[in-house]
Amino acid sequence: MTQHLLLGQTLGFSGNPLTHDWADMVAFDSAGGVLIEDDRIAAVGNGATLAKAHPDAQVTNYGDHLISAGFVDAHMHYPQTGMIASWGKQLIDWLNSYTFPEETRFADAAYADDVAARTLDLALSHGTTTLTSFCTSHPQSVDAFFAAAATRNMAVVAGKTCMDRNAPANLCDTAQTAYDDSKRLLQAWHGQGRAEYAITPRFSPTSTPAQLEALGALWAEYPDVLMQTHLSEQHPEIAWVAELYPDARDYLDTYEMFGLLGERGLYGHAIHLQQREIDRLREVGGAVVHCPTSNTFIGSGLFDLMGLAAAGLRIGLATDTGGGSSFSMLRTMAAAYEIGQLRGTVLHPAQLMWLATEASAAALHQSGQIGSLRPGAMADIAVLDLASTPVIAQRHARATGIWDALFPTIMMGDDRAIADVWIAGSRWTH
Ligand code: GUN
Ligand code: ZN
Repeated sequence: MTQHLLLGQTLGFSGNPLTHDWADMVAFDSAGGVLIEDDRIAAVGNGATLAKAHPDAQVTNYGDHLISAGFVDAHMHYPQTGMIASWGKQLIDWLNSYTFPEETRFADAAYADDVAARTLDLALSHGTTTLTSFCTSHPQSVDAFFAAAATRNMAVVAGKTCMDRNAPANLCDTAQTAYDDSKRLLQAWHGQGRAEYAITPRFSPTSTPAQLEALGALWAEYPDVLMQTHLSEQHPEIAWVAELYPDARDYLDTYEMFGLLGERGLYGHAIHLQQREIDRLREVGGAVVHCPTSNTFIGSGLFDLMGLAAAGLRIGLATDTGGGSSFSMLRTMAAAYEIGQLRGTVLHPAQLMWLATEASAAALHQSGQIGSLRPGAMADIAVLDLASTPVIAQRHARATGIWDALFPTIMMGDDRAIADVWIAGSRWTH
């Protein structure tokens, strides 16, 4: 057995700080320690006490750095890494102008391998240890992503993006091939090492009812896998869905009608929800995923985080790159904070950190496994330098208490704030 002891300030959670008093849900130690045995966290506590009890552990002393669970990105598109920050479009035009042309390049397996490796390394350099990604409609894009994640021993969730209409012909599958390819990829990758498969219809406008029905049937065959898609992101999109599915009660119903509403469903964006949709998501326990940098960048709207949390919905946090404009979950937390301000709610740094770790892990049904600084969790860890740039350092110098010390890094930090990353008990090196 290999034992590592990481010393520094430690931050974890005992419960949900959005729905309970955040102060009661936080486990913070300014002189903490995290004991790792092989690939898991064995103990979290006072650093000196752990050092005394485990004299053979290899010690890494991070001083005043903050040791956190690695960030969990609950929704992103690795094929869009190359076209992140493309100018001037809203959702439908953005998909047609930038996204679909880029995704056609993934017919080339070598290109897919290259972008998958680049994306995972970018994520890790930003302290993100789990990505939940859409691939393209090409099966080889799924193989590329899972293979690159396996090389890095990363816990990832991904699936083949299915679409059989309203997209370029060379990106379209059919109801049958979407079912067949998804099933084959699911059988090949789900549960292999740290990989989890997600059945992935892109969104209702790019699937025929027949395709949604086929994917709903596949989910019924494999109810333990996740299903990821998009929901109610922009008003023109929602109007288009109503035209394409005249019998649906609302956008969520286009999924519900075909067996694609469930507890293991991940619904990205979910900005402009109707009351019935909120009620149904709560009833079934489906998760909505907040993508704040994307929602402002593409001009989608202001997600009602506090309202949906109070309504009892499971909520994850995500970059949504390349619709999102940053790989950094710090920047993503900052955008969530800013959107909160625009909605008249103030998110505490503890709530933001919880969203980026425990909440996203819970959305993925991996609570206690990833995104957690608790004993028993996999040792996926991000170590934050809270004074990583001159502007943050001068602000940090006058901070009073951990939250005032952490908040400038949340608001202004990026990959320079990531001092170290551990994946499954091993220190990540570029
Ligand atoms: N809706 C359907 N596809 C996409 C996508 O790739 N990005 C975003 N942000 N929304 C979508
Ligand atoms: Zn998306």
